[in-house]
Amino acid sequence: MREELLRLNNLCVDYRVKDGYLSAVKDVSFSIEKGEIFAIVGESGCGKSTIAHSILRLLPDHNEVIKGNIIFNGENLNQYSDKQMEAVRGKKIGMIFQNPLDSLNPVYTTGKQVAEGIMLDKVTREEAWKRVVNLYNDVKMPDAERRANSFPHELSGGMRQRVMIAMMLARTPQLLIADEPTTALDVTIEAQILNIIKSLRDEHNTSVMLITHNFGLVAEVADKVAVMYAGEVAEQGTVFDIFDNPKHPYTKLLMKALPRKTKKEGRLQTIEGSVPRLTGVKRGCRFENRCPYSMDICRTENPPKINVTDSHFFNCHLEKGGE
Ligand SMILES: Nc1ncnc2c1ncn2[C@@H]1O[C@H](COP(=O)(O)OP(=O)(O)O)[C@@H](O)[C@H]1O
Ligand SMILES: [Mg+2]
Repeated sequence: MREELLRLNNLCVDYRVKDGYLSAVKDVSFSIEKGEIFAIVGESGCGKSTIAHSILRLLPDHNEVIKGNIIFNGENLNQYSDKQMEAVRGKKIGMIFQNPLDSLNPVYTTGKQVAEGIMLDKVTREEAWKRVVNLYNDVKMPDAERRANSFPHELSGGMRQRVMIAMMLARTPQLLIADEPTTALDVTIEAQILNIIKSLRDEHNTSVMLITHNFGLVAEVADKVAVMYAGEVAEQGTVFDIFDNPKHPYTKLLMKALPRKTKKEGRLQTIEGSVPRLTGVKRGCRFENRCPYSMDICRTENPPKINVTDSHFFNCHLEKGGE
């Protein structure tokens, strides 16, 4: 039987900005089961990173208003103290980001930084170092021992991301949040990193929340997909629901813009217009101004949730989605 690991209930995040509040995430609900790869896909500015940072409590302090619940392993993380959250970060929920340099300390060798995490579990320095080299081999780091003795600036982008994954693997978290982990990497390295993420799930039953703006990548690795637009989930389903039977006009446009061959084409740049700036309370569908099927009601009423199957829904005034 499948078991739920993470659940968001009506998560809303508003950032305080000069002219009021910016609604970055609105009423987002989904759950991730153990051993599942759940992708969140959407253009830049759709609120994907805000969701990740909310879960880890890494949002800039006093700048935002958060509503809704984040349930992890049956416990409400909202009720955790900052100290309890520190114990969750890294150990229970691991994370990798687009730019590993932001997370690596330039003045220590990468191996020393990975070893530090391992030594939190009270193992000796020698034992920790052995594990570092093993982990580097696990993440297919070329010339593992030498790379462990290298400083971050001496490594390529792909190698740095391998360091981040090794660091995360050292703690064997239950959930990995990967926020655009391969965006800065070329296609070959991207495929290798995705394979490491997949084997992590296969070997340790780790759940993965994969955040990306690359719809093509989703088809390759994800079990389930939430398509986000301007802070809201436009459509959600299994990878088969979404790719075989897309319903929301936005998902359909993304499908059309789907990369066929090169990574560059995979960027979601082919849809007219841009994500609206979401300050002030507005009713209606957030995709309305870019939607080819826009109707009067789309400007005045929030779109209803339409269930296609038990696993598949979309939010739209068009009963069957745009045809
Ligand atoms: N610290 C912040 N203060 C104000 N607005 C922010 C902040 N961080 C992000 N935003 C805004 O919130 C929206 C969602 O951003 P983000 O979650 O980074 O989107 P994504 O990861 O999908 O690109 C964007 O409009 C962005 O400009
Ligand atoms: Mg982001």
